[in-house]
Amino acid sequence: MDASTLTKIVRQRQIPLLVSLSRSLATPVYRAAFLATATRLGILKRLRARPCDLASLARAAGIDGDTDLLRRWLDIGVRTGELSWFDDCYRLRGRTAKALAGPRGDAVAAALEEVLRFHIPVMLDAPAMLKDGRRLQLGDQDGSVIARSTRVIQPFVEEAVRRVLDRRNPIRLLEVGCGNGTYVRYAAELNPRLSALAIDLQPDVAAEAAENMAVWGLAGRVETRQGDIRTLDLEPQFDLVTLHNNIYYFPVEERTAVLRHARSLLAPGGKLLLTTSCQGGGLSLEVLNLWFSYAEFGGPLPHADELLAQLADAGFADVAAHTLIPGEQFRAFVGTNQPARRSAAQVLTAKE
Ligand SMILES: C[S@@+](CC[C@H](N)C(=O)[O-])C[C@H]1O[C@@H](n2cnc3c(N)ncnc32)[C@H](O)[C@@H]1O
Repeated sequence: MDASTLTKIVRQRQIPLLVSLSRSLATPVYRAAFLATATRLGILKRLRARPCDLASLARAAGIDGDTDLLRRWLDIGVRTGELSWFDDCYRLRGRTAKALAGPRGDAVAAALEEVLRFHIPVMLDAPAMLKDGRRLQLGDQDGSVIARSTRVIQPFVEEAVRRVLDRRNPIRLLEVGCGNGTYVRYAAELNPRLSALAIDLQPDVAAEAAENMAVWGLAGRVETRQGDIRTLDLEPQFDLVTLHNNIYYFPVEERTAVLRHARSLLAPGGKLLLTTSCQGGGLSLEVLNLWFSYAEFGGPLPHADELLAQLADAGFADVAAHTLIPGEQFRAFVGTNQPARRSAAQVLTAKE
C-alpha cells in the first residue's frame, strides 16, 4: 500500500469502521446463522455424541450431494470458533454450540432462526414495504420454524393450561391454531377423559399435528382438522376453547368477533384460555409486534387492557389476565361463558 492510499484510508475512516462493524455486527450474524442451521440439521447433536468426519455429518444432515460444498460451509463454523477440526474430524468447540447441542437446544436454535429469517427481513424492508404498499403474508412465515421456536415458552403455556383444566371430569377441548399439537397432548395427559378437536389454518401444520396425534397414541381422542376458526362448521358445546400464541394472526378489528364466535362454541360455564405475547415487552417482542403490524392477515400484538375489553365485549364473564413470564409481556387471559341469567318468570316455570 502506498502512502497516498494509506492517507485516504485514515482520512475517510471507511475501512476501520467496516472492520470494526464486521467484527461487532456481521460476525455474530454469521455465527447465529451457522448455529441455527447446524442445530436444525442435527449436526450439533451428532457432534455432541462424538467427533465426526465429513461423510458422517453429511449423512446426519441427509445430504448426499457435493460434500466438498458442505465442507466449505462447515469450515465457516470452524472460523466462527463454534467447531474445531483436527484428525479429519469436526468437534464441538464453542460454548454456544455445546449448549445448543443439548436436549432443549432445538427450540432456542429455532428462536434464533426466527430472528434471522423473519425479524431481520422486516427490519430491512419495512420502509420499502410502506413505499410500495406491500404487506407480509402468511406464506412469508415458515410454520415449521415457528412451531419449533414456540417450544421455548412451553413451560409457561403449560402452567396456564394446568390452572384452568378440569382434570377429573370428561371434557371436550377445542384448540384453535394448534400448531404441532403439543398443548393438546399436554391437556390430554392431564385429563385422560378429555377428548379434543384441534384445528389449524395451515394445511402442512394441521397435517403434522394429525401425524403427531397418531404417534402419541391420541388419534382416538383427538380429531385434527385443517381450517379457519372463522369459517369452519363446528358443532358447539366445548368445555374449553384454547388459543395459544395466535390472537395476533387476526386483525385487531376482527378480534372481538373471533372471541364472540369462540364463546358461541362453548357450553354454558365453559372457559376460554388465551395465551399471548403483548405489547411493551423486550426488543424481540417489539420486532415480532412490528412483523405482525406489517402482516396483511393479522395485526399488532395486543395491549393487555385492550384484549381484556375485547373479551368482555365478546360476552365473557369473569375476565382476567395474569403474567406468565416474570418481567416479560407474556400473559394468559381467561373468560367464562356465563350461563344466560333466567328471568324470574322462567325460574318459577322451572320450579312448577
Ligand atoms: C405461532 S403459531 C402457534 C401454534 C401453537 N398454538 C403453539 O403455541 O405452539 C400460530 C398458529 O395459529 C394458526 N392460525 C392462525 N390463524 C388461524 C385461524 N384463523 N384459524 C385456525 N388457525 C389459525 C396458524 O396457522 C399457526 O399454526
